[in-house]
Amino acid sequence: MSHGDLTGQVAFITGGGSGLGAAFARRLAADGATIVVNDISADAASAVAIELNGDTAVFDVGDSAAFDAEVDKAVERHGRLDIMINNAGIAPPPDPERTQRSIENQMKRMEGKLDEMVPPDSTVGLSDADWDRMMRIHLYGTFYGTRAALRHMTPARSGSIVNISSVLGLRPMAGALHYATAKAGIIALTKSVGQEVAPFGVRVNAVCPGWVDTPLLAPMDPMLMAGIVMQIPRGRMATAGELAELVRFLAGPDSSYCNGDVFAASGGFV
Ligand SMILES: NC(=O)c1ccc[n+]([C@@H]2O[C@H](COP(=O)([O-])OP(=O)(O)OC[C@H]3O[C@@H](n4cnc5c(N)ncnc54)[C@H](O)[C@@H]3O)[C@@H](O)[C@H]2O)c1
Repeated sequence: MSHGDLTGQVAFITGGGSGLGAAFARRLAADGATIVVNDISADAASAVAIELNGDTAVFDVGDSAAFDAEVDKAVERHGRLDIMINNAGIAPPPDPERTQRSIENQMKRMEGKLDEMVPPDSTVGLSDADWDRMMRIHLYGTFYGTRAALRHMTPARSGSIVNISSVLGLRPMAGALHYATAKAGIIALTKSVGQEVAPFGVRVNAVCPGWVDTPLLAPMDPMLMAGIVMQIPRGRMATAGELAELVRFLAGPDSSYCNGDVFAASGGFV
């Protein structure tokens, strides 16, 4: 894969203070881009911004007014916006009791004892607040970021937006329906907006990472994680750096024919 030089370009990366977002920031900065690091954690955003000689934009991506204001501020400061990576996200909080029930149910299913399985009640137990929070950060945040970026990119007839979905948006799993639904929504959003702006020089694409070794997955039950890794044909999780190569490709001019397209990097999981 050949890479063009990003010197002179400005990239705004949400959730850039940790994991994948920090890896994307480092990768784009390595090719010369000026990075604006968003995060809800000021300390996390500052650490990456200082390392890369970039700027911080500390706000919650679910706050549309803050998103508009911070993107406008970045454009005022740097004179342009070339790349927007909508990456900020959360995982459903760990629920040891439900995880244990799910493991026991899997054993019962393998033994053919379906009538002994206990309903996990993941859906009926999901609160309005948890559903809203997941939608707000992932789906609304991606919409707000896409809209704020397009206000500058479309008049410039140039720009690349990369939305971070998930393999769970393509292959939803029981027990994470709000996460999977939000991530599937990001795919639809990307395709719709990508088609709209393709004639105007702006590209919008989505990346669906498989299971990546980042702080997001640290609280996951090790047995559950081992069971997932067994389902990955590649035999291991991805590194954030591996995903950063794909995002770098989509952010820059080498991906000039990618418009409203969706790219998984899942080690064969999807
Ligand atoms: N790690 C994986 O296996 C995996 C797989 C598929 C998709 N993803 C997606 O990749 C993205 C990045 O995940 P990660 O693994 O790097 O997680 P991470 O927890 O390491 O990093 C996420 C960052 O987003 C920030 N953040 C959370 N809520 C925010 C908000 N409301 N506003 C601004 N910033 C906020 C956090 O502070 C954190 O710094 C997420 O959208 C996640 O759903 C991750």
